[in-house]
Parts: sequence; structure tokens; C-alpha cells
Amino acid sequence: MAESKLIKGLMEDHDHILDALALLEKALKLVEEGRLDGSVIGDFITFLSDFADRCHHGKEELILFPLLERRGMPFHNSPLQVMACEHGMGRYFLRNARRALEGYLGGSKEAFSDVRRYLEYYSELLTDHIDKENNILFRMAEGFIGPEEGVEEAERVEEELGHERLLKKLNGLKGIIESQ
Ligand SMILES: [Fe+2]
Ligand SMILES: [Fe+2]
Repeated sequence: MAESKLIKGLMEDHDHILDALALLEKALKLVEEGRLDGSVIGDFITFLSDFADRCHHGKEELILFPLLERRGMPFHNSPLQVMACEHGMGRYFLRNARRALEGYLGGSKEAFSDVRRYLEYYSELLTDHIDKENNILFRMAEGFIGPEEGVEEAERVEEELGHERLLKKLNGLKGIIESQ
């Protein structure tokens, strides 16, 4: 159990991201079977861009990681560098998945294999990334920061980017997938 409230909140985000990835896998299968409109995949990509990339990775890159740097954790050749690089790779996969999806929705049926491939890359990357953060980086970070540090800033980011609203959207997507 995390002592730092900032880290506890980030770990809760991880659970929501993993839930979204499991639902996305089901959604991809349903689209392939012709039982779900492909536009729903776009809603997942939007959720992952807004919640995982902008809000969650935003809190890590703008609050937690710089705080750890200020406390003496190096950036280069450290878990911070690896985590920041992986956030960038995730963005690359999501952008290309979005582009391929636009092609698919525009009538190019074969573009769906690119949608699936980029989203599989994304899902594998994020699953492994979250495991590394939960089990390595965040455990190290507990020794560097106090229980309340970064919490106010994180709340500001969440308010600005609509953290609760985004979670409601995920719940809505869950309802759509589970009713199929
Ligand atoms: Fe991260
Ligand atoms: Fe994370």
C-alpha cells in the first residue's frame, strides 16, 4: 500500500487504464465480427489519449518525475528516462491507430489490421509499463517523497482535464461492450 497519496492516485489510474485495455480487446473482436460499429474504437482511442496520455502521463511527467529529479534521482540512464520514452512510444501508437481507423471508417476495410496492430503494440507497451511503475519505480519513489507531496498539483491537473468526467466515459464504454 502506497504511503504517498500521489502514488496511490497514480496506481488507481493504472487499474482504470488496464480495465480500458481489456475492454478495448473485446471491442476489437466485436468489430471484427461485425457486431459493433468501428467508431467505438475511436472512443477508446480518445479515452486513452485524454486519460492515459494527457492526464495520467501528464501527472507523472509534470509532477512525480520532476519531484524525484529534484530529490536526486537522475534522469539519464534511469527508470525515469525509460518511463518518459515509453510515454512517447504510446503516443506514437495511438496516433497511428487513430490515423488507420480514419482510413477504415472512410471505407478501407484492410486498414483495420493496422488499427489492431497499433492498438496491440499500445496495449503490450502500457501493460508492461504499468507493471514496471507499480513494482519498480513507484517503490523506489516512496523513499524520495512525503505522503502529501504533489497531491494538490495532481488535483489541479485532474480538474483541468476532467478526470472524473473521463472515468464516466469509460463506464459508458463498458456498458456498450458488456451489452453486446
Ligand atoms: Fe508512466
Ligand atoms: Fe503510470
